[in-house]
Amino acid sequence: MSTPLVSVENVTKSFPVQSGGLWSRSTDSVHAVDGVSLEIESGQTMGLVGETGCGKSTLARCIARLYDLTSGRVVFDGRDITTLNRREMREVRRDVQMIFQDPYGSLNPRRRVGSIIGDPFTIQGLGSGKEIKVKVQELMERVGLNPEHYNRFPAEFSGGQRQRIGVARALALRPKFIICDEPVSALDVSIQAQIINLLIDLQDDFGLTYLFITHDLSVVRHVSDRIAVMYLGQVVEVADAEDLFETTRHPYTRSLLSALPDPDPDIADSQRRIVLVGDLPTPTNPPSGCRFHTRCPKARHDCVVTIPTLEPVLGDGPAHCTACFHPLAVGEDLTLSTPAIEDSEILTAQPALTSASSAAESGPKSAATRGGESQ
Ligand SMILES: Nc1ncnc2c1ncn2[C@@H]1O[C@H](COP(=O)(O)OP(=O)(O)OP(=O)(O)O)[C@@H](O)[C@H]1O
Ligand code: SF4
Ligand SMILES: [Mg+2]
Repeated sequence: MSTPLVSVENVTKSFPVQSGGLWSRSTDSVHAVDGVSLEIESGQTMGLVGETGCGKSTLARCIARLYDLTSGRVVFDGRDITTLNRREMREVRRDVQMIFQDPYGSLNPRRRVGSIIGDPFTIQGLGSGKEIKVKVQELMERVGLNPEHYNRFPAEFSGGQRQRIGVARALALRPKFIICDEPVSALDVSIQAQIINLLIDLQDDFGLTYLFITHDLSVVRHVSDRIAVMYLGQVVEVADAEDLFETTRHPYTRSLLSALPDPDPDIADSQRRIVLVGDLPTPTNPPSGCRFHTRCPKARHDCVVTIPTLEPVLGDGPAHCTACFHPLAVGEDLTLSTPAIEDSEILTAQPALTSASSAAESGPKSAATRGGESQ
């Protein structure tokens, strides 16, 4: 294996939050990202999926060093960037860019598009005003915008065009690595494919490496070489994209992927959607052992008391790692599983369940799936 362009080593990010009411001085910590390790090869796309609030954006911001890490290391292109100061990071910023979900929120409505796209050149002191204008118009053309619209304001563009402006700005300094955080989820479905195709074309043209965050599993399958699945601040499974879909090992991954209809109609007919019961526990006080044990159909006693490590299971190669004591065999039907942990274990192990009603309603034996519900 070649040296990865991005290496994330045991990264943890916690946010202090006030607890116990307005006048309380005590603070808790939100463990948004907890011990994540990932490697992204040059020229590849790593997809990152998981429920809302599982820590995807926080991890992305740690990698781009928009956040300081609580602990762990980020190595970019062979250089440890974990503790670089602002001035040192300026150099790295040329190579590491982000595209955000909201093309409206990330563009200043009072500035002309030419100067928004030209900002990276200006900040880095690259070229005179005239030279920058030429570069910006080239970029506009490359991302499918009319260079004549250089002097227009963001409000004069459609949602898709505004995301193209965001892409042009990210591309300006010819970065090596772009983090795309839900880049199309705010756009109309008809426009989403155009932006995805643009990103794929640009990857080929410029040899870009992407971290691609999305809720849309069909998009992630389409764009990714590898996919990492996050649950409550941790990566629970990572594999080559097709392998993850075809040899899903982690019960949480299986439940996520079951929401996506199989392109093969025969399989789609027989496929049963797995609906997890219970809320995502709070990252302030996550469950003991395997964090998924409060909702997992395969949970056993060991899952409550021991933390599983992310490693190859059931004879998988080193590229496919899963954090689970009882991973799924090929063809195993998760809807036939029922958790085998005692009420007392659940109660002591999950003080953090956000919804008391969901725990009461589901009970330990059914705190898992309502298998069999078809789509
Ligand atoms: N600045 C912050 N201060 C306190 N808590 C935060 C902060 N940013 C994120 N969190 C918390 O960290 C957890 C992870 O949030 P994050 O935004 O990374 O999730 P996400 O996976 O990107 O979710 P989504 O899919 O909704 O974008 C959440 O519980 C969130 O409330
Ligand atoms: S079987 Fe156990 S270790 Fe595996 S995901 Fe379920 S609770 Fe976690
Ligand atoms: Mg997010």
